[in-house]
Amino acid sequence: MNHPCYICGLGSCIPPRVMTNHDLEKLVDTSDEWITTRTGIKERHVLENGVNASDCGLNAARAALDEAGVRPEEVTHIFVATCTPDYLCPSTACVIAGKLGISSGSGRMGNVMCMDFNAACTGFVYGLELARNVIQTHPDAVILLVATEALSRRTNFSDRSICVLFGDAAGAVVLRSDPAGALWELRDVLCSSDGSLNELITIGGGSACQISEGSVVGPEWFISMQGMAVFKHAVRSMTDESLRVLERNGISLDELDLFIPHQANLRIIKAVGERLGIDENKVFANVQHYGNTSAATLPVAMEDARRSGALKPGMKVLLTSFGGGMTWGSALLA
Ligand code: ACO
Repeated sequence: MNHPCYICGLGSCIPPRVMTNHDLEKLVDTSDEWITTRTGIKERHVLENGVNASDCGLNAARAALDEAGVRPEEVTHIFVATCTPDYLCPSTACVIAGKLGISSGSGRMGNVMCMDFNAACTGFVYGLELARNVIQTHPDAVILLVATEALSRRTNFSDRSICVLFGDAAGAVVLRSDPAGALWELRDVLCSSDGSLNELITIGGGSACQISEGSVVGPEWFISMQGMAVFKHAVRSMTDESLRVLERNGISLDELDLFIPHQANLRIIKAVGERLGIDENKVFANVQHYGNTSAATLPVAMEDARRSGALKPGMKVLLTSFGGGMTWGSALLA
């Protein structure tokens, strides 16, 4: 890569409405004790009716743009990682652009490229890879990468095996090749997938869901998951991908300042940390407060880690994630 790629703004948005484990005890046959011991999750946040993935993403985007000192009209690309877009069409990226007041011809390089993409929980890492490649052909690009999820809209709140796991949130970063005001350099990214495992996690509502006006939606509309198979794959894939990205950059685990894995389940986070043999004080976790917010977990965790003082600009940070597809990936910041 000839042109470096820097993260120069970071923001997140957490919906104010909280659902605790005790709230879920009133909806399904579960207990705070079961959820805490199996997942580490104590509470999650859910969007109010009428507030969508684009609204949460917009707030995160505004925070990232403010920190970067970038005006909306300076943005050249908006990429939105989501598996719960507002609509099949238009893209959530276009909806966010509209809400930011960005219109045709307002970008520095002409029209603004807006698109959504779906790599499920690995969306943020995939988005970093997209961004750094765009910067190679457009070194003047100012890229807004938003990861936003409204998983509560596809959660069956009568399915105890699923409804305890997920929550809503958004995170965003601004990326460009200009080092002025940079928080971290995006050193490297690796992205992988295995489509033969596509049935392990599904969320319906696409064109394969054949409904007509007035139909009652079936179970395929909601998140489904083969929990234990996902668990095993998650531990293996995040561990291997993290080691690969460190090795190809000649960086040892000891040199890392912080490890931020996808926040799906505290047991998965601990298992990956133990397999890597990384000091547990360097493994960041906030899944207790949000549950699994899919693509949003990594930028939300970065922002929380920064607020807690665990993450500072210029630190060597390893991000890793896995998700439906199956997809997985790791990114190295410094
Ligand atoms: N409360 C009480 N009991 C429950 C609940 C609940 N909320 N959910 C399931 N159970 C019961 C089951 O019915 C089962 O009972 P049985 O033995 O009588 O049949 C028992 O608890 C054990 O269920 P398991 O599913 O075997 O529990 P497990 O230990 O595997 O934990 C879990 C389940 C937490 C889902 C785990 O498998 C896991 O975390 N998997 C990974 C999930 C994940 O990370 N997903 C990411 C999705 S990423 C994306 O892209 C959307």
